Amino acid sequence: MKLRIDYNNMLTHTIGDEGITQATLDSLSPAILAANKNMEEKRKAGKMAWRDLPYNQNEIVEDILNYVNEMKGQIEAFVVLGIGGSALGPMAVQQALNHPYYNELPREKRGGFPKLYVVDNVDPERLVYLFQTIDPTKCLFNVISKSGSTSETMSQFMIIKQQLEEKIGIEAARKLIVCTTDAVTGNLITIAKQEGYKHFYIPSAVGGRFSELTPVGLLPAAFCGLDIKGLLEGAAEMDKMCEASNIYKNAAHMYALLHYIGMTTGKNISVMMPYADALKYISDWYAQLWAESLGKQFDVNGKTVNVGQTPVKALGVTDQHSQVQLYAEGPFDKIIVFLGVDEYRETITIPKTYGDMPSLGFLGGVTHNNLIQTEQAATEYALTKANRMNMTITLPKVTPQTLGQLLYFFEVATAYAGELLNIDAFDQPGVEEGKNATYAMFGRPGYDTKKAEMDAAPAKADRYII
Ligand code: PA5
Repeated sequence: MKLRIDYNNMLTHTIGDEGITQATLDSLSPAILAANKNMEEKRKAGKMAWRDLPYNQNEIVEDILNYVNEMKGQIEAFVVLGIGGSALGPMAVQQALNHPYYNELPREKRGGFPKLYVVDNVDPERLVYLFQTIDPTKCLFNVISKSGSTSETMSQFMIIKQQLEEKIGIEAARKLIVCTTDAVTGNLITIAKQEGYKHFYIPSAVGGRFSELTPVGLLPAAFCGLDIKGLLEGAAEMDKMCEASNIYKNAAHMYALLHYIGMTTGKNISVMMPYADALKYISDWYAQLWAESLGKQFDVNGKTVNVGQTPVKALGVTDQHSQVQLYAEGPFDKIIVFLGVDEYRETITIPKTYGDMPSLGFLGGVTHNNLIQTEQAATEYALTKANRMNMTITLPKVTPQTLGQLLYFFEVATAYAGELLNIDAFDQPGVEEGKNATYAMFGRPGYDTKKAEMDAAPAKADRYII
C-alpha cells in the first residue's frame, strides 16, 4: 500500500494562469539538481540522521517493547510531558491509529494498554485538571525533551516528581518516571542518570520536529498498543520512494518544488485539510514541521530572505462550513493540500428515512464513506474551478505503514524545500529568541544582557490600550 500524490490542480492545464507551467518546472532544473546534490551530500555526511531512523533502531524497538510489557499492567495511564516536536507527533500518531475515544474505552477494549495523556502546555489549569482526572501514583510519566532544558517540560516534571515523591516516596516514584532525551547534552540526561530513571535517547543529530520516529514517538505509541515496527517499515518504504533523482518520480521532492514555486509567487499559506478525523492532528504536526523549518530570516549565506509559508490547519468536511468560503473567493495566497483516504476503517449507511423529500431522499442508502469522499471531490472541483492551487495526497487506508510513509514524506519534503529556499531547515533561531527572553524575565543567570536589551525596548503607551 502506497501513498498517491495528485498535483494536477497545481498546474495551468486545470487552473489556468494561476497554475504552474511546464516551462517554469523545466526552468528549475538547475535548482533541482543542486537540491538533490545537497540532500545527498548532507545525508552522506550524517547531517540528516533522521533519514537513518527507519533502519537503525532494532535494538531500541526491542528495548521499548520489553519495557512496555514490563510496565503496562502496572499503570492506568501513560502521560507525555513534552512540547513542540516532543508532543505533536505522539498526539498525531495516537489519533491516526487508535480508536478516537481510546481513553474512554474500558481497559480490555484498549488491549490492556494504559490511557494516553499529552500535557504540552503550562496553562495552570492543565495539570490541576489532569490530577483531578488521573491518580498520578498509577501513571507512568514520560518526560520528553531533546534539549533537556525546555522550561515548560522541565517545570511539569518538577511538579510531578514532587507530587509522586510526597505521595509514595522516592523509590516508588522513580519507577513512574521515564525520560526521553539527548544522550549527551542537557539537564535531563544528567538528572535521569543521577536519579536512576529509565531513559531512552534521541540521537544528537536528530532535531525535535524530525524526531517522531525516535523513542519520542515510538515509546508513547507502543504504550498504546500501536505497531511501531509497522511505522518504521512505512518510513523505510517512503525513503526508497524518495531516492529518485527524477523529480517526476519523487513525490516528496515534487511536493516541495510546487510549494517552493508557490512561495515565490505569493502563495504564502499552506493549508492542510485531511478528510479523515484520524488524520486531524497530522495537520498540527505538519504545521510545526513546515513553519519552524522553513520560516527563516536568513539564507545559508547570511543574506536576509524572510522566507516561509504559513501553515493553516483545516478538517474536511468540517471546514467546508467554515474556511472554504475564504479558500474559494479570498486572496490567491494559498496552496490547499487535501489528505484523502481510499478505505476508511469503518462503514456506516444512512437509512432511507425521508425518501419522499428530494433534499434528503438522495442521502438514503448512501454511506458516510461515500458522502465524505464525494464532498472532498466536490470541494476539490469547486476550488479548481475558482483557479485555486490545490493537490491531493491519498492514503489507501490509515495503517501504521501508510502513516509511517506519510510522516517520512513530509519530513523529506520539508528538508527538500529548505534546500530549494537555500535556508537551514533544521534550526529555529526565532524560537530561541522567545525562550531567551523568558529566561531573562525570570532573571536566570547568564541572561543579564538580554534583560538589559529588553528593558531598553520602547515601552507600551497607555493611550493605545483600551
Ligand atoms: O523542533 C524543535 O526543535 C522544537 O520545536 C522543539 O521540539 C521544542 O522546542 C521542544 O524542545 P525540547 O524537545 O528540547 O524540549
